[in-house]
Amino acid sequence: MDIIEIINKKRLGKILKREEIKYVIDNYLSGNVADYQMSSLLMAIVINGMTDNEIIELTKIMLNSGEKLDLSSLGTVVDKHSTGGVGDKTTMIIAPIVASCGVNVAKMSGRGLGHTGGTIDKLESIPGFQVNISTEDFLEQVKKIGMAVVSQTNNLVPADKKIYALRDVTGTVESIPLIASSIMSKKIASGANKLVIDVKVGKGALIKTIKDARKLAKLMIKIGKANGIEVVCLLTNMDIPLGCNIGNALEVREAIDVLTNKSRGNLADLCIELSSYMVSLGLNITYKEAKSMVIDNLYDGRAYEKFLEFVKWQHGSLEGLPKAKNTYKVKSTKEGYLTSIDALALGKLSMHLGAGRASLEDEIDYGAGIIVKKNIGDYINKDDVLMELYTNNEIDTKEISTEAFSIQKENTKEVKLIYEIMK
Ligand code: URA
Repeated sequence: MDIIEIINKKRLGKILKREEIKYVIDNYLSGNVADYQMSSLLMAIVINGMTDNEIIELTKIMLNSGEKLDLSSLGTVVDKHSTGGVGDKTTMIIAPIVASCGVNVAKMSGRGLGHTGGTIDKLESIPGFQVNISTEDFLEQVKKIGMAVVSQTNNLVPADKKIYALRDVTGTVESIPLIASSIMSKKIASGANKLVIDVKVGKGALIKTIKDARKLAKLMIKIGKANGIEVVCLLTNMDIPLGCNIGNALEVREAIDVLTNKSRGNLADLCIELSSYMVSLGLNITYKEAKSMVIDNLYDGRAYEKFLEFVKWQHGSLEGLPKAKNTYKVKSTKEGYLTSIDALALGKLSMHLGAGRASLEDEIDYGAGIIVKKNIGDYINKDDVLMELYTNNEIDTKEISTEAFSIQKENTKEVKLIYEIMK
């Protein structure tokens, strides 16, 4: 077999055989296929796509490139995944809700890159919190308290690690076959038997249209079936940020506010929906039965107790959550109804304030970020505070644009939180 023949085949839109896909992945990992050859093949895939069978084979080959976690001793384990967005702190809220309902959550999460945050960075903003624990301790913790959230081990799908880093710098991230195989290989390797996926759609997400989100969801459900995993996808809005806080410790604070019922709104609503589908899968009960259990456990404080237990088990202390030195208020220059908030623009601003990293080596400022002070549909007067910025850098607020906030004379737009559920 020859890499150039394989690249040419995909360039012409032909179907690759299983052996050819395996040849590419094995030889890319061993260094016999160069980055430039792999990027050329990836671009051919972005342009010409792959058949469902090619994608299922690619997923299996990637999944077998490293270690797999065996969670069979835990019985049914339900996992949750988000395709990534701005202000998405749902794991910190959902995992304790679901565990408090009696469903095991053994979760491996990732770090943030670019304008989207990662759960592991958010948890690490809690002083002392440990995200790297041994597999034995991880399983033990789930057996004892029903949940654990840890950092993905280095050897979990190494093929995806190497390919994703290359995709990130070669304009080949936005491809449905590559996204589906990347996500599903990691989820299958991390051992859960049921999975709820929050497919984010909109300006702040990787997937911009409902049509593409449907295609991605359909494919992930099919890959799940081929691997004995039941998958439910919720297609949800990422035109606007999720909740009010963006930035690591700020998002921990907002997660606590939801768990202690101090914050209601789109974030709490989405967490209730995602948790209900997870509990329904985990306990084999109807969505309606699951939702009533989820709401009970959230409102009577059992979910928050589970969160506190989880933080303690992983050596975190909620006292002394980091806070940035400087706070700046950004005021409106216009008057009217707030009809939209650009999630992507705020994600980038938050990164600029120190809350995210442009490259994996960058240090994060855990206290930095943004608190959005207005909701969609609010009437805004001139000089009303639109957002507060938290940073250890010195900034001039005159240089901060308020264009992320769309303020119009008419209040016309209705914001939908969940577009569709697919199973
Ligand atoms: N998240 C992943 O894990 N992989 C992708 O390709 C895109 C989002």
